Amino acid sequence: MDFCEAIEKRRSVRKFLSPASQEQLNRILNAGTKAPSEMNTQQWEFVVVDDPELIEKISEIKYMVNRDMKPRWEDVPPEKEKIAQMQKDSFPNASLVLVFYPRNRFNKAAGWACIQNMLLAAASEGLGSRIATIWGRGEKEVARLLKVPKGFELVAAISIGMPAYTPGPKPLRPVGTWLHRNVF
Ligand SMILES: Cc1cc2nc3c(=O)[nH]c(=O)nc-3n(C[C@H](O)[C@H](O)[C@H](O)COP(=O)(O)O)c2cc1C
Repeated sequence: MDFCEAIEKRRSVRKFLSPASQEQLNRILNAGTKAPSEMNTQQWEFVVVDDPELIEKISEIKYMVNRDMKPRWEDVPPEKEKIAQMQKDSFPNASLVLVFYPRNRFNKAAGWACIQNMLLAAASEGLGSRIATIWGRGEKEVARLLKVPKGFELVAAISIGMPAYTPGPKPLRPVGTWLHRNVF
């Protein structure tokens, strides 16, 4: 697929039919490793999770994070509950890649560059993808679950797979409203 087409086609999807094949995943991970990094230090680490039990546990952590870590028996506003459930439902039937980066002054920037490369590579494979950010206590729980060494920060968890639906058109800021010349 042409590069510009991949940019146009990349969309977040939150329900999947099937994961990426091993070959597709290898190409996607390889694209991640081509990202720019501070002084070319390439300090990213990827954890591919294919154990369904672990995926289920991470999806539950993301669900809890989106409910502000309130226990299941405690109600949250219906809209918050709906979003949290949608987050949880976007983990099954997809490949899961977690990107870690050392906690340093570059503030995960290279990790994100790497993620964008992977999302575009997934789009060029005809696959959908979805970023899940997990923070606070949820991030600590993921680190414990995956035995992440101290000093590494979770940039995001990425689900990749065959989309179960086609996302609707995306509202975009009118062209040029984000452009300034010479001065802001
Ligand atoms: C920093 C960042 C964090 C995000 N976190 C989440 C997330 O936790 N869950 C989720 O479903 N989507 C997440 N997204 C995806 C955005 O919701 C999505 O990119 C946006 O709505 C635009 O839609 P598109 O990706 O289809 O173009 C995140 C995106 C970014 C860049």
